[in-house]
Amino acid sequence: MSKALVVGNWKMNGTITDALKIVTGLEHHLKAPMDCAIAVAPPFTALYSVGVALAETQFRLAAQDCHWEDKGAFTGEVSPNFLKDVGCDYVILGHSERRHLCGETDEVIGRKLQGALRNELTPILCVGETADERERGQTEAVVEGQLKRGLAGLHVKDLEHFAVAYEPVWAIGTGVTAGPQQITDAHRFIRNLLAKLYDAPTAAQIRLLYGGSVKPQNAGTIAELDGVHGFLVGGASLTPAEFADIVRAVEMASRKR
Ligand code: PGA
Repeated sequence: MSKALVVGNWKMNGTITDALKIVTGLEHHLKAPMDCAIAVAPPFTALYSVGVALAETQFRLAAQDCHWEDKGAFTGEVSPNFLKDVGCDYVILGHSERRHLCGETDEVIGRKLQGALRNELTPILCVGETADERERGQTEAVVEGQLKRGLAGLHVKDLEHFAVAYEPVWAIGTGVTAGPQQITDAHRFIRNLLAKLYDAPTAAQIRLLYGGSVKPQNAGTIAELDGVHGFLVGGASLTPAEFADIVRAVEMASRKR
């Protein structure tokens, strides 16, 4: 299993000036080298400046989305090749806001995964059910469908550098975190499904992150849960002191393992 991973998804927040302030704060709050991998995903327009500011630090650069093609007549889109060029190591794909607000389907997300992998970006594939789906008892079916359709066409070797983020839609930006049992169950389900779709060693090395209202107050408990290998953090990642506390919680949990 690779190191635990903590990713800050800044969403559509931050001019270049704002982004650089966050970077300064992160460097201040996380001076000591951490054992876990840490990445930030600023808006596209701030990637270059943040990348320059983070060069030679322990922070890696992530993007929030990409197109599936490397180049061409796709007005307004951003190529995975350009993300590599600007210094990204990771790309978040299939975030619930893209699924629900931009109508992204699993098939589209699957093509994006292939584009990311072709460009040696580590994808962070987001999956998760809505509140309605959970109430109807469809959590596993929904997550299974998202994974099966999204991963169709990917081979074992594609999953060497890969992370899946379980993000229940009802927990994103709401202040409501999934309970420990709900998280453990979902992560176990995802791990078992990956083992069925590929094989157990491949499934075992894929990092499973949790996302949805992760805060310094709950990060310690969740980070210690079985099968949780880090976080995808939204709101709290915009406040360097909070993000740093979350990173430290993941670091502590990894040390206890
Ligand atoms: P949140 O967002 O931490 O603000 O709930 C998580 C995410 O959208 O990845």
